[in-house]
Amino acid sequence: MTENALKSHFIDRILLGDCFSLMNDIANTSIDLAYLDPPFFSAKTHQLAARETGIRYRFSDRWKNEHIYADFLFTRISRVKELLKDTGSIFVHCDKSAEHIVRTVLDQVFGAEHFQSEIVWTYKRWSNAKKGLMPAHQNIYFYSKTDTFKFNHLYTPYSDKTNIDQILQKRQRSKDNKSVYLINKQGEQVIGAEKRGVPLSDVWHIPYLNPTARERVGYPTQKPLSLLQQIVELVTEEGDIVLDPFCGSGTTCVAAKALNRHYIGIDESKEAFKLTQQRLETYIKPSVRRSDATKTQASKEWIDKCLALSLASIPFNRILRNKGIDAILVEHFNSKPVLVKVQDQSETLKEACDILVKAMQKKQSEKAFIIQTHNCHTNEQILPLLNQHLSLIVMPALTIKQALQS
Ligand SMILES: C[S@@+](CC[C@H](N)C(=O)[O-])C[C@H]1O[C@@H](n2cnc3c(N)ncnc32)[C@H](O)[C@@H]1O
Repeated sequence: MTENALKSHFIDRILLGDCFSLMNDIANTSIDLAYLDPPFFSAKTHQLAARETGIRYRFSDRWKNEHIYADFLFTRISRVKELLKDTGSIFVHCDKSAEHIVRTVLDQVFGAEHFQSEIVWTYKRWSNAKKGLMPAHQNIYFYSKTDTFKFNHLYTPYSDKTNIDQILQKRQRSKDNKSVYLINKQGEQVIGAEKRGVPLSDVWHIPYLNPTARERVGYPTQKPLSLLQQIVELVTEEGDIVLDPFCGSGTTCVAAKALNRHYIGIDESKEAFKLTQQRLETYIKPSVRRSDATKTQASKEWIDKCLALSLASIPFNRILRNKGIDAILVEHFNSKPVLVKVQDQSETLKEACDILVKAMQKKQSEKAFIIQTHNCHTNEQILPLLNQHLSLIVMPALTIKQALQS
């Protein structure tokens, strides 16, 4: 069989057995991303039963000494390097039990110069049975095979404490090297370049899977899907191939499938192999990927929904704590911000438009959209306000209601 034939032979498949020998059957330089979540050197046998089926899953993480563990990783990580394309990357998940070993092995195999990041995955926990600080993070080491690795810039939403001026205004260094807003000759603040949010940092706040989480399948040490989706999105494109040689319940493969990437999963446990296959067959894409604890209030959630329905795939930054503006589009118009306001449940359309027009003046905006959510007798008064600068978007539900009433 040629290398390419072998490559397609294993694509979108789960393989059962020791990943060391099975990785010999995968073509060299065919993989875009390898994520490894091996046993952590925890000196435990991990076991758990699935709530619905009662099936018990277990795997051993007991080692005679750390040299044997380091050797086990070294041979497998060396093979992964051969499988990676020159543009590929490896992510290895560990915790404080063996992070020093994992980092040393990765430096040996990939070279310290190809170390890109130590990602700290942090989550909330509420109890600690042991003496000492409560562990609330795990580590994921990110190395690239070469300097020409793929990397997609990801952004997180601005916090609701972020002032709109911080997002819009251009900054410069003052004489005493402070970051200040740039002012033009007319004394006006200058609008900066388009911003997509806060660049993703190396500290990831993603909740730990709690015992009742919907995505939990009962596999010990199962990782959250959103964690794996973020890794996949960071260094691959649609159609790329993702390898997980210690796939367990198959979280990485599910994440790859959800994001239209190909996957190869390997596990030596028969139960894990079956579970991953089942999970891939029954996987349904969840609609929301990131939870946002700040958007808990009902009115905020309602405005979020109106924006999502109206703007659909148009990228925008959500603005909180600003009466006149609920969102600004990432794309500018005439180098000025495009503002969006949702008519609040307590506002007439005229009131909402007046507030938005004021915000436009303040922010030097030349294009804005008001989203109408309900009807009231002052509607006709807004007609003079609508022009090429201010447009009206009627929520589909309102259009339907109006149509049914006429
Ligand atoms: C930490 S778990 C992976 C959990 C997985 N990331 C998830 O989200 O469900 C480690 C897995 O490695 C598997 N494993 C251990 N040694 C292996 C080997 N030599 N080859 C393949 N799989 C192995 C175990 O059976 C276990 O399922």
